[in-house]
Amino acid sequence: MNTYFETVQKKFADLKQKKDVIVLGIESSCDETSVSVVKNGTTLLSNVIASQIDIHKRFGGVVPEVASRNHILAIETVFNQAITDAKISTDEIDAVAVTYGAGLIGALLVGVNFAKSLAFNLRIPLIAVSHIEGHISANYLTHQSLQPPFVCLLVSGGHTAILQVNDFVEHKLLGSTIDDAVGEAFDKVARILNLAYPGGPNVDKLAKLGKNNIEFVKHSILNTTLNFSFSGIKTAVVNYVHNLEQKGKEINVPDICASFQNYVVNELAEKSIKACKQTGLNKLVVAGGVSANSFLKEKLLTLCKENNIQLFMPDLKLCTDNAGMIASAGYFYIKKQKGLSNLDLTGQATVGL
Ligand code: KG4
Ligand code: ZN
Repeated sequence: MNTYFETVQKKFADLKQKKDVIVLGIESSCDETSVSVVKNGTTLLSNVIASQIDIHKRFGGVVPEVASRNHILAIETVFNQAITDAKISTDEIDAVAVTYGAGLIGALLVGVNFAKSLAFNLRIPLIAVSHIEGHISANYLTHQSLQPPFVCLLVSGGHTAILQVNDFVEHKLLGSTIDDAVGEAFDKVARILNLAYPGGPNVDKLAKLGKNNIEFVKHSILNTTLNFSFSGIKTAVVNYVHNLEQKGKEINVPDICASFQNYVVNELAEKSIKACKQTGLNKLVVAGGVSANSFLKEKLLTLCKENNIQLFMPDLKLCTDNAGMIASAGYFYIKKQKGLSNLDLTGQATVGL
């Protein structure tokens, strides 16, 4: 009798040619427990997301151990709901795709172990998906005819980079942050301003009420590359706020949000356009949680129009972590015959860009 891996190796090879492929995706890298069913990489049949934001809010950020425990509590219910919403039976699932990294190790392990038991039980391939490829793939769900090559601006809580996406689930790094990720900078600025976790959406909201009228004193490195640095602006905002506090002066939170956001969005947008020009590619795709930022969208719309670049951004609900994007990436891994994993798969805190 064939072993589990021998059986799924054959199934994995067969899936490359199969007309309709149904992938179940699992995501648990941070504070969202999510399970989704996706057909042919582009059609969402279900996408159930149980967010732990309310649990972590009172700590001002994600507490890893609390996140793992809550993933355990939620995952079975989320899985059952995803199957019900998709109106399929488990026999119809062709493969299980799971985020193996980057993320919080304990949190990742919950999704990875659930995926392993499911794949073993159903005797179907288990595909180890990089969270980064997942964020990029959110765009294939939103724009079903989108095809590489394109330039991708990846902006999340853990990563900030510009990638040249040459093919589905294949990319080359053009530039990245040398210190903080942009989402991390948003969250830290929010925290110093006493805004609730996660800070990014709150900074975005308040910035709409403020003016871009503060020149923060920052020690930024002048660079002509496609790399970013956000720790200088973050520290400059922190110093600005502390200075006003020490002098007992009023802190204008909306103006600080607007000025900070304006600075980082300009950095992101201008370097993305520069990458398009350097590579000669006229398609720009945005991926990751910060792609939900309204000012980033507005700025990119303007610059892309001026420079004749087609802009693609994920639907708002697919910008932040969800399993739909993981299932979509899983489909493209199958078509490229990448990522098939044995049952010794484990979580990885970091993955290469
Ligand atoms: O991609 P994501 O859900 O998780 C990671 O893979 O890291 O990104 C989460 C990040 C958080 O830092 C959050 O504050 C930020 O995305 N974010 C935003 C907005 N919505 C989410 N940042 C700025 N403006 C937003 N509207
Ligand atoms: Zn993410």
